[in-house]
Amino acid sequence: MLPLELMEDHLQLLDQRRLPAEVKYLQIFDHKALVEAVRELAVRGAPALGAAGAFGVWLASREALSLPEDRQRDFLAEALRRIASARPTAVNLSRGVERVAARLRYPLNNEVLEGLRQEGEALVAEDQRAARRMISLGTELIRDGGVYLTHCNTGGLATTGLGTALGVFFEAKRQNKKFRVFVDETRPLLQGSRLTMTELLAEDIPAVLITDSMAAAVMKEKGVDGVFVGADRIAANGDAANKVGTLQLAVTARFFRVPFYVVAPESTLDPALASGKEIKIEERSAREIKYLDGIQLAPETAEVFNPAFDVTPGSLITAVITEHGIFREPYNFGADR
Ligand code: MRU
Repeated sequence: MLPLELMEDHLQLLDQRRLPAEVKYLQIFDHKALVEAVRELAVRGAPALGAAGAFGVWLASREALSLPEDRQRDFLAEALRRIASARPTAVNLSRGVERVAARLRYPLNNEVLEGLRQEGEALVAEDQRAARRMISLGTELIRDGGVYLTHCNTGGLATTGLGTALGVFFEAKRQNKKFRVFVDETRPLLQGSRLTMTELLAEDIPAVLITDSMAAAVMKEKGVDGVFVGADRIAANGDAANKVGTLQLAVTARFFRVPFYVVAPESTLDPALASGKEIKIEERSAREIKYLDGIQLAPETAEVFNPAFDVTPGSLITAVITEHGIFREPYNFGADR
C-alpha cells in the first residue's frame, strides 16, 4: 500500500483516515484538495508529506497553466504558501515544496511542468535510497530474540514506501531475526493501532498493541531492548519533534535504561534550528480528543490542549540514525561530510 502515487493528470492518495476498515483512494486534481487532505491527515508522516509537497507544486502549476501569464506567479506564490504551511512541524513538507518550486520558470508551459514532475520523482527516488541506507544501519541494532516498542506510524504509509523506524523492523524480519514489537495505539488519531499494527501484521512480525499509558508497565515487565521512533523535525542539537507521546516514552526509557532510537532521513534534519525550542508545534482541534468516530468522550465545554507533536531532548536520545550514520551526543550531523 503506497501512500501516494503520481498519475497522468492528478495525484492519487491512499486515504489513511479510513484504514484499516476501508481501503479508499482520493483523486487529487488541485492544490486546495491537497491542502485539505494534508490537514485532515489523509496523507501524513514526514517523508510522505515531503513527496506530497513536491507533487503539490506540479498540481498547482497545472492549475496556473490555464491562467493569463501575468497571474501565474501570484497564483502559485499563494498556492505554494498554503501547501507548505498546511502542517508546520514536519520540515519535509515545506522542503518538498521548495525543492520543486526551484524548478519553476515563467511563463509556464508543458516543458516546465514536465521538469517539476521529474523533480518530484527525483525526490521520491532519493528518499527511497536514503531509507534503504538508514534501515540497514538501524537493523544492526536489532537483537535476535529482542523486544521493542514503537509509537505512531513510521512505515511505508508514512514515507515513500520503505519506512523509517518501522522499516528497521521489516528489514530485521527479512534477515530472519526473531523479535517482538509493542505498539502504542497513539492517541488521539490512533496511527499506531490503525496503521502500524496493519503494517507489522502484513509483514508477519509479532506485534502487541498497547494503549499509550501502558508503555511504562511494558518497559518494567517485558524487558524491552529498545524504543524505535521516527521524527518530523530534528534540530542541530538532536532535539527531535515527533508524534505527541514520544517525549514521555523517552523519559520512561531513560528511567528503565532502555535505549531510545530515532530513525529519520537527513531531509528531516533542520540544522538551522539550534534547539527544539525553535520547532513550531502544530496544535489541532479539540474535537479530535473529545470525539471518537462521532461518539462524545468528554463534556462539550471541556478545555483541551491538543499538540500533535512534542520535542524529545537530544540528551534523552541514545542515537539518531540517518542514511549518513548513527549519530550520538554531541550531535554533529554530517558536519565532516
Ligand atoms: O501526525 P502524523 O501522523 O503525520 O505524525 C507522524 C509522525 O509523528 C511520525 O512519527 C513521523 O512523521 C515520522 S514518519 C516516518
